[in-house]
Amino acid sequence: MPHDTSFAPTQLAARAAYLLRGNDLGVMTTAAPLLYPHMWSWDAAFVAIGLAPLSVERAVVELDTLLSAQWRNGMIPHIVFANGVDGYFPGPARWACSALSPDAPRTRHTSGITQPPVHAIAVQRILDHARTRGRSTRAVAQAFLDRRWNDLVRWHRWLAECRDQNERGRVTLYHGWESGMDNSPRWDSAYANVIPGDVPEYQREDNTIVTDASQRPSDMEYDRYLWLLEEMKAARYDDQLLSKVMSFAVEDVFVSAILAVACQVLAEIGEDHKRPNSDVRDLYAWADRFRAGVIATTDERTGAAKDYDVRAERWIATETAAQFAPLLCGGLPHDRERALLRLLEGPRFCGHPDLAYALIPSTSPVSRDFRPREYWRGPVWPVMTWLFAWCFARRGWAERAATLRREGLRQASDGTFAEYYEPFTGEPLGSMQQSWTAAAVLDWLG
Ligand code: SER
Repeated sequence: MPHDTSFAPTQLAARAAYLLRGNDLGVMTTAAPLLYPHMWSWDAAFVAIGLAPLSVERAVVELDTLLSAQWRNGMIPHIVFANGVDGYFPGPARWACSALSPDAPRTRHTSGITQPPVHAIAVQRILDHARTRGRSTRAVAQAFLDRRWNDLVRWHRWLAECRDQNERGRVTLYHGWESGMDNSPRWDSAYANVIPGDVPEYQREDNTIVTDASQRPSDMEYDRYLWLLEEMKAARYDDQLLSKVMSFAVEDVFVSAILAVACQVLAEIGEDHKRPNSDVRDLYAWADRFRAGVIATTDERTGAAKDYDVRAERWIATETAAQFAPLLCGGLPHDRERALLRLLEGPRFCGHPDLAYALIPSTSPVSRDFRPREYWRGPVWPVMTWLFAWCFARRGWAERAATLRREGLRQASDGTFAEYYEPFTGEPLGSMQQSWTAAAVLDWLG
C-alpha cells in the first residue's frame, strides 16, 4: 500500500474544498501556499474547474482576475503576482514587464511569458455547472461570457498569430516554463544550446521550500531559465523580436494539442451562445490548423507526437506524456490511434508493472531520462491525469476516462494534494496542498 492514510470520497472532497478556501486570497487562489504564492495561468483555469461545483460565482471571479491581467497584445501571462506577497523568485522586479513593454498591464504585476491555453475548458465546466443551478447563477455565468468573450478570442488569436507566425499549426515557446513542463527531457537538447551570458545575481527561493534537491530542477537549469529572461527583457517582450532573438525556441506539440481542443471548445460555446460568426469561424479554423499541426509530427507506426527545435531545425522525440498529444485533440488515422493507445496503456507507460497506480508518468519509466522524483522527469502529475481523463471523456472513451479518474482518486486519497507523486511508491512530492490537485479531485467528486 503506497500510503497509510486513505480518505473516503466525501471526506476527501471536504478537505479539497477546505484547501482551496485556505489558498484563497480573495480574488485569486494561490497555486500553492508556500512554493507558488501567486496566481499561475493554467493553475487558475484548473482552480476555476475545482471551484465551479462549489460556487460558480467564485469560479468566475478567478477567471476574471486572470483575464484582468491579460496583456494588450492578447497574451495571458503565466503569473499574476499577488500584491505585496514575496517569497517567489523571479518576482515582478526581475521580470520588469511594465517598465519594458507597452503591452504589459499597468494595474497588475505579471510575468512576461505565457502558459498552456486550457482556459476554454474551465469556461466550459463553469457553464456546465451553471446549467444545473438557479436563474441568478446562470445569469452570472452568462454575464461572464458576455464580458470576457472578446478577451478569450483575443487570447486564442494571439497564440495563433504571434506564436505560430508561419502557420505551421504548432505553438512556438521561448521558455520551457511556457510549456508548464519546465524541466521535462523534452527540452534538454534545446537548453543545451542556450549559453547563459551575464546572468544578474539571483537567489533561488524554490529550493528553500522544497529542500530535497532531487525533486526540483537543478541550478544549471535555473541559470538557463534566468538567462532566457534576460534575453526577453533585452527584446522588451516584443512578439516579433522574440521570434528572432531568443536562443530557445521550440514548437510544443502538447500545447498545440491543447490549443486545438481549446479552440474547438470555445467555438462550440460561441455557437451555443450566439457569439459573432466571424469569431466562431476563426476558432474552428484554428482548431483545424493546430490539430493538423499536431498530426503532422506523429510517427507513422506508433502515432507518437514530437516537438520541434526551431533553432536547431531538429525534431525532438522523447518518451514523455507529451507524445500522447494527438489523443487529446484527435485527428490520427484509426490504426495509428490504436497503436498510440496501446503505447499509453502498455508497459512503457500506464501498464508498467511496478507502478503504484495505472496513471501516466510524466516521463516513461523505461526511458534513459527517467527520474522518479524529479519534477517533470518522471513523477505522475494529478492535473495531467485530469486533463487526459477529461479529453478522453470528450472523445467518447468513457471507460478510459473512468479508469484514469478511479486511479487518480486512489492516488489522491492520501489527502496531501501533492503537486506530483513518485510513480512506484505513490509518495507525495513537491509542494503539498497544491490547488490544482484539489481542483481535479473536486471535479471528479463533484
Ligand atoms: N513552474 C515554475 C516554477 O517552478 C514557474 O512557472 O517556479
